[in-house]
Amino acid sequence: MDKLHVNLGAESYDICFNDSFDKLVYSLREIGAPNKLLIVTDTHVAPLYAGEVGSLLKEAGYDSAVYAFPAGEENKGMDAILGICGACLEHGLDRKSMIIALGGGVVGDMAGFAAAIYMRGIDFVQIPTTLLSQSDSSVGGKTGIDFMESKNILGAFHQPRLVYINVSTLKTLPPVEFISGMGEVIKHGIIRDAEFYGFIKDNSELIKSLDSRTLIEMSKKNCGIKARVVERDEKENGLRAILNFGHTIGHAAESALNFTTTHGECVGLGMVAVSRIAARRGLIGREILEDMENTLKMYGFRTRMALPAAEEIYSFMLKDKKKTDGRLKFVLPVRIGDVTQTRDVTEEEIFDAISYISE
Ligand code: NAD
Ligand code: GLY
Repeated sequence: MDKLHVNLGAESYDICFNDSFDKLVYSLREIGAPNKLLIVTDTHVAPLYAGEVGSLLKEAGYDSAVYAFPAGEENKGMDAILGICGACLEHGLDRKSMIIALGGGVVGDMAGFAAAIYMRGIDFVQIPTTLLSQSDSSVGGKTGIDFMESKNILGAFHQPRLVYINVSTLKTLPPVEFISGMGEVIKHGIIRDAEFYGFIKDNSELIKSLDSRTLIEMSKKNCGIKARVVERDEKENGLRAILNFGHTIGHAAESALNFTTTHGECVGLGMVAVSRIAARRGLIGREILEDMENTLKMYGFRTRMALPAAEEIYSFMLKDKKKTDGRLKFVLPVRIGDVTQTRDVTEEEIFDAISYISE
């Protein structure tokens, strides 16, 4: 089985890559998982994978139960957190017990947040089942929920003890969710690794046809990029903010569209928008902007969208937690594989960028 180590001192962990759940029990034993486990999932993922995962754990002698909350970003709030904590109490989880997050980024962020606060913090394992969660949200320990129209505004850093990626789960993923995940994968290439960006372009047919070997290779390279950034700046005091490339405008568009479009597609749109700012500033050539747009389109992204008024999107940007002293932080590309962070982007540049991505 392919593995990648995330080196965070006492909080270090492995990411395992496989095309089945066959090695899950082995991986849990390797980390000395306790007997009592709660599988936290959502109502879409539960009928697909909770049975198989639950049976494997039970057959191996674990005392596991399943708790599923209603799927969807609109449920990423305190009610579901209280539901998870209630299930932890009902199943008798103590401070040594463990939560298993089985699902996409919403499940991972919420199960992780519940694990961070239940009895002042218990261990959890990530079993991400969407491309987005396999390529971004399950790695790095950011957990949290949305509150008062602000995304991920309440949360905690809480690293998982293990991330177990079974790329076969992507076979049941709706195509629109696959596109969403590719947004984060392409993002990692643009911000950090031109060679990986080339790999994504060269292997698009194998990736889109969900070839297991290629998906594992992509996933391992991709998680390696994120892990190396998180290792250098776990709590986002500097470098880690480059992972927010495309997110400032992307998150605002996602909120302004009332979450009717996927996170990753909005990130893709946000990447085009900030790259437009970079191109206007002469930081990158127009051909690089065009190349990024073509790569996104290759994977089914819309690089223009019918968006609410720019003022509305801007008003959501001003609620963003990436703002300090009233100034928004932007990550701008300087070439494929490298970016710069700045707080000097003007309102005029932002409005031009929104107009550029609007249909
Ligand atoms: P999601 O968890 O809502 O999953 C998308 C949809 O796919 C849901 O309906 C889900 O039930 C369904 N699903 C999940 N796995 C499936 C499978 N294998 N087959 C069929 N359906 C499946 O959304 P997501 O895109 O995975 O994650 C988005 C969330 O991740 C957002 O809330 C975002 O804020 C968060 N996020 C967090 C981080 C982080 O670092 N913690 C990073 C990026 C995004
Ligand atoms: N997805 C951004 C981060 O993990 O920092």
